[in-house]
Amino acid sequence: MCGIAGFIGERETVPLLLQGLKRLEYRGYDSSGIAIADDGALRVAKSVGKIAALEDKLAALGGFAGKTGVGIGHTRWATHGEPNERNAHPQLSPDGLVAVVHNGIIENHASLRAALEAKGHVFKSDTDTEVLAHLIAEERDAGFSLPDAVLHALRLVSGTYGIAVIDAREPSLLVAARKGSPLLLGLGTYGTFVASDVSAFVSGARKVIYLEDGDIATVRRDRLDIRTLDDVRVARTPAAVDPAAGAPEKGGYEHFMLKEIHEQPEAIANTIRGRLLPLDGTAKLAGLQLEARELASIENIVLTACGTSYYAGIAGAYAFEQFALIPSRVEQAAEFRYRNPIVRPDTALVAISQSGETADTLAATREAKRKGALVLSVCNVVGSTIAREAGRGVYLHAGPEIGVASTKAFLCQVTVLNMMALLLGRTRQLSNPEGTEMVKAIESLPELVRRTLEKEDEIRRIAERLAGAKDAFYIGRGYMYPAALEGALKLKEISYLHAEGYHAAELKHGPIALLAEDVPVVACAAKIPGHEKTLGNIQECRARKSPVIAIATEGDGDIEALADEVVYVPPCAENISPIPVVVAEQLLAYHVARLRGEPIDQPRNLAKSVTVE
Ligand code: M6R
Repeated sequence: MCGIAGFIGERETVPLLLQGLKRLEYRGYDSSGIAIADDGALRVAKSVGKIAALEDKLAALGGFAGKTGVGIGHTRWATHGEPNERNAHPQLSPDGLVAVVHNGIIENHASLRAALEAKGHVFKSDTDTEVLAHLIAEERDAGFSLPDAVLHALRLVSGTYGIAVIDAREPSLLVAARKGSPLLLGLGTYGTFVASDVSAFVSGARKVIYLEDGDIATVRRDRLDIRTLDDVRVARTPAAVDPAAGAPEKGGYEHFMLKEIHEQPEAIANTIRGRLLPLDGTAKLAGLQLEARELASIENIVLTACGTSYYAGIAGAYAFEQFALIPSRVEQAAEFRYRNPIVRPDTALVAISQSGETADTLAATREAKRKGALVLSVCNVVGSTIAREAGRGVYLHAGPEIGVASTKAFLCQVTVLNMMALLLGRTRQLSNPEGTEMVKAIESLPELVRRTLEKEDEIRRIAERLAGAKDAFYIGRGYMYPAALEGALKLKEISYLHAEGYHAAELKHGPIALLAEDVPVVACAAKIPGHEKTLGNIQECRARKSPVIAIATEGDGDIEALADEVVYVPPCAENISPIPVVVAEQLLAYHVARLRGEPIDQPRNLAKSVTVE
């Protein structure tokens, strides 16, 4: 989603802004722009499309090279107004002296805009952000300093924002503020960075300050002040920059997605490292900061998340009920936040998010906290808002996930949720031998994934069958149900082929009407309880002439006669069975998208981190 990269200090500004924006490209965007203060004026360049187009624009415009001082840059993912130069950020004040970059949504922009228009303001874009630039300009015209003008303007807006603001008349100043959209300050030796993501400045800063909601930072070359919207000064402690967030490399792979699929054995090994206690048959998850007695007092669990993380949550809920006997349900985060859910003091809410910044999951976390639940996060990005606000949780340690299509995060989320189920189970009825069995199953995961990756050539061949289709179904039951949902999501988001994930039993309650010889069905058919029923469902699909691609367990003698193609994955315990099946699905989706020539790492309309609701 939108990205912010700003800098104030003693280095040439534009290359630093471009470097920051390039590192944010993975988040997904459709246009970009920068503004620098130069000799009492702003120099602004914007372009539609990739950062390379912005670089061409800068070269064509000239006059940006060699400037040292202050500047802001932005990658925009369109919300208000189509992607064009007019709507790209920075947005300017009417006099062209104030520039604003903004992530988030100003919800009352229409009424503010109408009020400003009534006073004679003329708007040049369709964005909600331009309203903010005009409000700040009004305050500047009334004689307020830039920091105060920003403070006053922000008091008028409702919605979410991470913003960075500069004023040509004050080139030794940058103002940054956040509410509901992440914003960080990177403290370097030659200047200070502002960014929506630590990767934008990782090589230039050793310390990072995560701004809190309601913070407004005034950044000077030699000083930093942070105050709240109520104008109260606050101190924020800098943390060390995580070097793992550095510039992403494809490591010889054609796409980040393929690289991330292949690094999954290592990612899972990192997830489980030091967290399993084979002798005690349990897990040690220090980040939960919960004693056995506290774990034992959890009476029900709500898992909440969006997209792929939501599907991992389904597998997690199954494991919590199977091993810990705790009633568990998964709730789509946007539903949870608005539907006034029942949360009791003995409820644990598990918020699952790769980025730790997903707006709906964050809001669900806050709602659960307000209602008194014990909130636990399962995040990948260290220091992300959900992880910090939850205060306790388990990091995935999967390493940066750059491809917009989530891959290793899913596997590591399912792994973490299984470790949590094990730990919770051991505070209840789960015996040491049963726990030890589960430990062994989890320890086998890296090898299980490695062996599944060996099937890539076969899957690439099968992808050719799928690549020409327009529609497809993915079916599964039990632990194969979340695998079916995830497989369909992977296929549709990167190949643009329409795919539906369905419970295998649900298919005949309607969607079966769509099955035909040009509608393939991918059957998630690992040999787990309910398998024979899935075989029956496959028969139903074949009877409607749908070609069937099955993902089945090695040694399954029944499946070959029923399916047109079979990908065999290694056998494993039921609770971890989505893992090898989803690896096969990831490769299938990847190769279909590649055959169709789609831009795999940055699919159209998608953003890596969805920070608006
Ligand atoms: O960062 P999060 O895990 O909270 O993101 C949730 C979804 O936006 C994400 O999983 C999305 O569905 C991916 N594009 C799936 O590949």
